[in-house]
Amino acid sequence: MTQLTPIFTRYWDQPNSWTLETYAKHSGYEGLKKALGMPPADIIASVKDSGLRGRGGAGFATGVKWGFLPPPDGGPRYLVVNADESEPGTCKDIPLMMATPHFLIEGVAITSFAIGCNHAFIYLRGEVVHVYRRLLRAVEEAYAAGHLGKNIHGSGFDLDVTVHAGAGAYICGEETALLDSLEGRRGQPRLRPPFPAVAGLYARPTVVNNVESIASVAPILLYGDEWFSAMGTEKSKGYGFFSLSGHVKNPGQYEAPLGITLRELIDMAGGMRDENHPLKFWTPGGSSTPLFTQEHLDVPLDFDSVAAAGSMLGTRALQIFDDTTCVVRAVDRWTDFYKHESCGKCTPCREGTWWLKQILGRLEHGHGDEEDLEKLLDVCDNILGRSFCALGDGATSPVTSSIQYFRDEYLAHLTQGGCPFDRDASAVFA
Ligand code: NAI
Ligand code: SF4
Repeated sequence: MTQLTPIFTRYWDQPNSWTLETYAKHSGYEGLKKALGMPPADIIASVKDSGLRGRGGAGFATGVKWGFLPPPDGGPRYLVVNADESEPGTCKDIPLMMATPHFLIEGVAITSFAIGCNHAFIYLRGEVVHVYRRLLRAVEEAYAAGHLGKNIHGSGFDLDVTVHAGAGAYICGEETALLDSLEGRRGQPRLRPPFPAVAGLYARPTVVNNVESIASVAPILLYGDEWFSAMGTEKSKGYGFFSLSGHVKNPGQYEAPLGITLRELIDMAGGMRDENHPLKFWTPGGSSTPLFTQEHLDVPLDFDSVAAAGSMLGTRALQIFDDTTCVVRAVDRWTDFYKHESCGKCTPCREGTWWLKQILGRLEHGHGDEEDLEKLLDVCDNILGRSFCALGDGATSPVTSSIQYFRDEYLAHLTQGGCPFDRDASAVFA
């Protein structure tokens, strides 16, 4: 069966797109019914063959991750959906859950059946109460229709789904901190290995996957892995959200095959906000990924091409900045976020993000000195690869990449005694 993109967004503009009634009109839960008639190993093989890579940022092969679960031992095993979307610029999972929550719930049911899980959890950030309510309602609808609960569609398979709202901490998006938080403890990362696949929730085998990854499972089962893998590039199959924010005419979610370029996406978004102000810098995958500039407009947005060009595809959170933006100020704001969200467990990140914030703040506000750039790079060097989890490493990305591409602008903050954008920027950077 041929079905082209868009998939997730194709009826977002219809009234009540989030209801089960609307979802059912668009082949909703047909993928689950098909899956329930398949051997679980075949479902895992199909997801592997589709080439689906995790949509939460790291891009780890989804079916391969499921395959890491040890053989059943009679005890419970869990699926935990990471819906704690918190990366600055990342804003795809919340619209998906608001507009079409049943994609996620159907994916949860299929995945749970495939991995032998009878209790799945959706861990959501606590601040988004509207999403929490919408998910609860959708889960209720799914139970009432027999898509969840006991003996689903007469298959003998039972599944309960719990939607859990966290207390609002970026670190709880790190999978092991999320598990600690779900168990009722303070959310701080655990040492890996063991990975959650071996010892996760309550020390039992657990699959942790992002919302968009799990939602992708339903169309893969319905339309087939070949349909999915026909889209995208050789090593980055399928389609996904590209979330454009910032200085474009029409910011929003653009669903497209992986491998599309920013130039094409900006065209789809109606162009830059003001033609007199060209693109200056952008993030390919949220603020934890090294910045790109004009020269990267034609880099295919797939995992390998973005990595080869020096950054990461991450969550495809494309924050677009034109030349009215001070890069030092942007980096200072992001660093403030990382300093605030650092969980404090390890010294390089806890102390390092504090120091980054001090130095960037004084540069931006005209109190910097000539050694500050080297100090920034030195602090980053002492965080990167020495932190306990990816938060510390991610905090260095905007700093090092902005110095790589915009050293002159940093220096201008020294020679001008503060931010040139507070004066006449065109005179400084002409
Ligand atoms: P990772 O590459 O260490 O792991 C990816 C996944 O593969 C994890 O689920 C891990 O358990 C699994 N895995 C890796 N090796 C394994 C093995 N040998 N055995 C079993 N399982 C294995 O990446 P990590 O640290 O989980 O995530 C970092 C990423 O998260 C970053 O790249 C960033 O883009 C993204 N991120 C996303 C945010 C969001 O709001 N969506 C926020 C912050 C970061
Ligand atoms: Fe906590 Fe930062 Fe260390 Fe991660 S890197 S464990 S967030 S202090």
